[in-house]
Formats: sequence, C-alpha cells, structure tokens
Amino acid sequence: MEKFKDLKSSFEAFITSHLPKIAPRELYEPYHYIVNLEAKRVRPVMLLATKRCFAPLGEDDFYAALAIELFHNFSLMHDDIMDKSETRRGQATVHKKYGDNSAILSGDALLILSYKLLENIANKVHFLSIYSLYNKTATEICIGQQLDMNFESEVLVSEPEYLMMIEHKTAVLLATSMKIGAILGDANSTDCDAFYKFGLAIGMAFQIQDDLLDTFGETASVGKRIGGDICNNKKTLLHIYALQNAHKTHKELLLQWSQTNEFNEMKISEITQIFIDSGAKDYVIRKRDLYYQEALKSIEFASISREDKDYLIKFAQKAVDRIK
Ligand code: IPE
Ligand code: IPE
Ligand code: MG
Ligand code: MG
Ligand code: MG
Repeated sequence: MEKFKDLKSSFEAFITSHLPKIAPRELYEPYHYIVNLEAKRVRPVMLLATKRCFAPLGEDDFYAALAIELFHNFSLMHDDIMDKSETRRGQATVHKKYGDNSAILSGDALLILSYKLLENIANKVHFLSIYSLYNKTATEICIGQQLDMNFESEVLVSEPEYLMMIEHKTAVLLATSMKIGAILGDANSTDCDAFYKFGLAIGMAFQIQDDLLDTFGETASVGKRIGGDICNNKKTLLHIYALQNAHKTHKELLLQWSQTNEFNEMKISEITQIFIDSGAKDYVIRKRDLYYQEALKSIEFASISREDKDYLIKFAQKAVDRIK
C-alpha cells in the first residue's frame, strides 16, 4: 500500500493537470486560488486509500477524488462568506481577496466543475451509483449548513440537534468519500456500508475536533482565526455543554454575550474560560474520542486484511488529529 503522503502527491499532481480555467479570469482565478492553497486533502486521500484496499488505482478513482475535493472547496468558499471568516488555510479567504460576488459565482462554477468531473468515470455502473450518492450527500450538506446558520440565533440547541447538524454539514462527505472508494473497488454492499459508517464516525470526530481547534487551537497551525465560532454564537457542543453545566453567573454571561456577534477579544477570552471551568472542554474531548472508537469498531466489519484495516485506522487518526 502507498504511503499517505504519496497518495496525496499523486492526487495533487492530478489536480494540477485537471483543473480547467473557465474564462473570464474573474471566474477561474478565485477557485484556482483556494484549490491551490496548502490543504490536507483528507477526503480524496480517504477515497483513494479505500479503493486501494480492493484494487489498484486507476483514472476513474482520481476523477472521483477530484470531484469530491472540488465540492469541498466550493463549500468552503460559500461557508467563509456565511461565517464572515477572513482567513483560510493560512491566507485571506476568497471573499476577502476577490469580493463576495466572485466568491459566490466562482464557487458555483467550482460546484458545476465537480459534477462535470464525475462524467469522466468510464465504468457507467460505478458512475450511476456514485452519482446518486453524490446528490444525496450534496443535499444533506446544504441541510447541515442551513441548520448551522439557524442555530446561531437560537438560544437552546440540544446535543442531539448539534450532532445531527454536524453529521449533515461535515460527516456525510467523509463517509461518502470512503463509500465511493469502496464502490470503485467493486466492494459488496456490506463493505460499502462498513466504510460509510467508518467515514461517518471519523467525520463526527473530525468536526468536533474542528470545533475544539476553533477555540483552543493556534492560528498558525489551524490556518483560521481563533474564536470565530464564539463570536458568531455557533452552537458547538462546547457552548451547549457549558450552558447546561456552568454555574449561574457563567450561564448568564454566556447568554449576555450571545446578544452580540461582532469579533470581540474579550468575548473570546471570557467564553473560552467558561468552556474550561464548566468542564465543557473535557467533555467535548471525550465525545470526540468516543466517535473515534466507534469508527474503529465499524471498520472491523469490512472484509479487508488486518494490515489494510490498520493502515486506514492510522490514516483516520492522522485526519482527526489534523496532521498534514
Ligand atoms: C474544513 O475542512 C471544513 C470542515 C468541514 C471542518 P478541512 O479541515 O478538511 O480543511 P482543508 O481542506 O484541509 O483546508
Ligand atoms: C464547515 O464547517 C462545513 C462545511 C463547509 C460544509 P465550519 O464552518 O466549522 O468549517 P471551518 O471552521 O470554517 O473550516
Ligand atoms: Mg460554517
Ligand atoms: Mg466556517
Ligand atoms: Mg469550524
């Protein structure tokens, strides 16, 4: 089996030779900019690694992997407008650099490009099942993103509601990436399901870790400004747990701060401290680790070798830890 970094570099070479320039320049420059920034490429590498458990890699696999990565990049362009984020992958976000209109339209072009790439899948049986899974997942991501936005202005969001939201906005794309890899490898339906479940649990751990890093990470390694979720009143599990378990004055402070949604250093530092004091940080770390354990169980159901299972588990751990 290839090393992860080798899969990543073959994939990046494929991006370079298959990312078209749809004129005019204003349309393609923004998407070339974001796609070419340094990124982890977790989803396409997961797809390729899964396929490798069943058969050697071919062109169809790279087209599917590129479609997924472009879909992900499209979703980031629009997400950064919605979240008013100024930094992504250590650089200015697309809308900061090129303006909102370009980020919207260039994002649309990238989404369409992602679909067009799927047309290149030569095995039409594979194409049809991938295409229908792709559409289902794309719709779920819109649902997740809308719930994420709705929750910003809701006071009482429950843990199950949060989990459902992150499953839709994030986990399903990781699950789909792995299932597509299994489909391309002609895996049977039990294996396809095992990979979907594995990807879904990894995706949950991945988003929970993303939320932890948004408060407790460092800008230099995360590539995003720390504290954005707090300022936007995102209903992360940190917030939900703290609101339920912090002592009275801290609960009041949380509710008071939710009246504003501007970037505010004092809001970030006070709420970060509440997340620590209330036990929310420890609780959320435990929750992340439970999803990781759940993922390990799911992969045991797949009929691949022990060596391949360990390979994927190692990869999943790197993905959740955000090791580039
Ligand atoms: C960021 O995704 C958006 C989330 C779903 C958390 P990644 O953390 O995979 O970002 P890149 O692609 O490596 O920049
Ligand atoms: C993004 O979630 C999910 C999608 C783009 C679908 P976040 O808003 O938490 O991602 P970051 O933190 O901006 O990368
Ligand atoms: Mg968001
Ligand atoms: Mg965001
Ligand atoms: Mg985030």
